[in-house]
Amino acid sequence: MARLSAVLLAFASLVNAAPPLLNARQTITTLSAAQIRTFKPYAFYAAAGYCQPATTLAWNCGTNCLANPGFQPVASGGDGDATQFWFVGFDPSLKTVIVSHQGTVPSEILSLVTDSDFFLSSLNSTLFPGVSSSIEAHSGFADEQAKTATLILSAVQTAMSKFGTKQVTLVGHSLGAALSLLDSVYLPLHLSGVTFQSILYGLPRVGNQAFATLASVGNTVTHINNKEDPVPILPGIFLGFHHPTGEIHIQDSGAWDACPGEDNPSDLCIVGDVPTILESDVSDHDGPYDGVEMQC
Ligand SMILES: *[C@@H]1O[C@H](CO)[C@@H](O)[C@H](O)[C@H]1NC(C)=O
Repeated sequence: MARLSAVLLAFASLVNAAPPLLNARQTITTLSAAQIRTFKPYAFYAAAGYCQPATTLAWNCGTNCLANPGFQPVASGGDGDATQFWFVGFDPSLKTVIVSHQGTVPSEILSLVTDSDFFLSSLNSTLFPGVSSSIEAHSGFADEQAKTATLILSAVQTAMSKFGTKQVTLVGHSLGAALSLLDSVYLPLHLSGVTFQSILYGLPRVGNQAFATLASVGNTVTHINNKEDPVPILPGIFLGFHHPTGEIHIQDSGAWDACPGEDNPSDLCIVGDVPTILESDVSDHDGPYDGVEMQC
């Protein structure tokens, strides 16, 4: 309860601080080459989420592992079928615990976000204690996150104590980005004094407005989407789904633009650039994100 109050307090103070903050950040800004480069290690960690758990636990998964050679793995799991692969470990140069979830192939994520068997539902009160029932997420994503939630929590606790850090970074692409966004709301309810950030690629919309607002607290989420990828515009806003703040949109030119607000309608951002699925190109879903393709 004490932790929840802290979250709510932080939220309340953010609401109070919001108008000047938002005004100051309304401008869409183009990232420098140096800023783009800072995301690259996280893109490789998101891509490594697609690799077999035995290879992420041994950190011999090929290109994606070689790109972050100092990584210290702690735990991995999933079967890539009923449960997406995941791994947890520590990056000594970035000085953060890394949590990565596997994504899925475009056809599968598209069926998840367009299938009417899935709907917005309240978060499980055992996993998300004290979170208001008005906060709703896509039932398919929430069920998938629940499968690994406690395993990931315990691996993160092990990694933090083993490597003496209180920094945790959540990464993922596609379905994996959705799972990490749910983890970004789940983990702080169970870990106090920890600084979180999430760097997500090709993120679909995960929850309703109240969920997006909660996930936006502290501006700890960055979600990067590529060109005309249809996944980030699904499920539709008209169905009640919303993105948190923290969008970066990659233009056809290769420029990266930071889009303030939630679902920024500018044509420099995905909502304006890809108004409907007819204007989309599913081959943009896997990247490249600064040269990194989301695959093992
Ligand atoms: C909520 O999560 C707990 C722990 O994972 C599980 O035992 C329980 O069945 C879930 N409840 C619902 C309603 O899904």
